[in-house]
Amino acid sequence: MDNSGRSLISLEDFDSNDILELLRQAAMFEAESYRNTLEGKIVATLFFEPSTRTRLSFETAVNRLGGRVIGFSDAATTSSSKGETLKDTIMMVSNYADLIVMRHYLEGAAKYAGEISPVPIINAGDGANQHPSQTMLDLYSIQKTQGHLDNLNIFLVGDLKYGRTVHSMLTAMRFFNPTFHFVSPEELMMPAEYKDFCKANDIKYVEHFDFNEEIIADADILYMTRVQRERFTDLMEYERVKNLFILRNDMLRNTKPNLRILHPLPRVNEIAQDVDSNPKAYYFQQAKNGIYVREALICNALNLL
Ligand code: CP
Repeated sequence: MDNSGRSLISLEDFDSNDILELLRQAAMFEAESYRNTLEGKIVATLFFEPSTRTRLSFETAVNRLGGRVIGFSDAATTSSSKGETLKDTIMMVSNYADLIVMRHYLEGAAKYAGEISPVPIINAGDGANQHPSQTMLDLYSIQKTQGHLDNLNIFLVGDLKYGRTVHSMLTAMRFFNPTFHFVSPEELMMPAEYKDFCKANDIKYVEHFDFNEEIIADADILYMTRVQRERFTDLMEYERVKNLFILRNDMLRNTKPNLRILHPLPRVNEIAQDVDSNPKAYYFQQAKNGIYVREALICNALNLL
């Protein structure tokens, strides 16, 4: 298939130059985000799973750049509820749109769509696998707040088993010599395949099964994640682990001045509300950064930069 343009399925397909160039382009869009770059283009947003930020920021990005959006936010209203296959859905929508942004509950769905689609696909999250556009906005947020991406102590906290954002983060940060700290209950520890990925790529990591003030004292980035109820087959297990690791404002007293707290959101209980007014809290600005990064991703996918 000629999906003229470039799909974004996984950040494994990106090298460090690709990443840094994309961040540079995002900064350019932040400086001047209303343009007509997408005039005459139609972008389809196909969300087979719920979303607030990802879908709305992709759609905001298209609107700011003069394009148009079609799509759905609830697959139950589409013919997939009648049994239409993902393949047929992609083939149909590619008749209507120049680019497809897709979130799907199945791991590998984006890769499959990228293989069959005549138009580029952007993976907006596939099951517990990857969420590459989120990671690019995470990297943009890290670069903005730290001034660079290199040699940082990055603490990933919460659901490291099912959290696709932390899996994508490992993939993208392999070029920048991070030290990762994996902080989770044992039930939600980083899966072996991602620890093997770290070993294969000389990425340093430390595992912690407690979450307290001492552990986070030398963090540059504290990346909190939600325990995702929708990924559990055993809801008793979800109930047991859901509130184990909660960041409270008093835990930040002795943290480094440059520390910033990120979260892909949505948040449930894992960041107490009193953290929001701490200057180290950056998650709402992080979500805003998603617009600029997605403007750059869309234009790249369509070969418009
Ligand atoms: N961060 C993120 O993917 O949020 P949504 O699920 O709201 O899109």
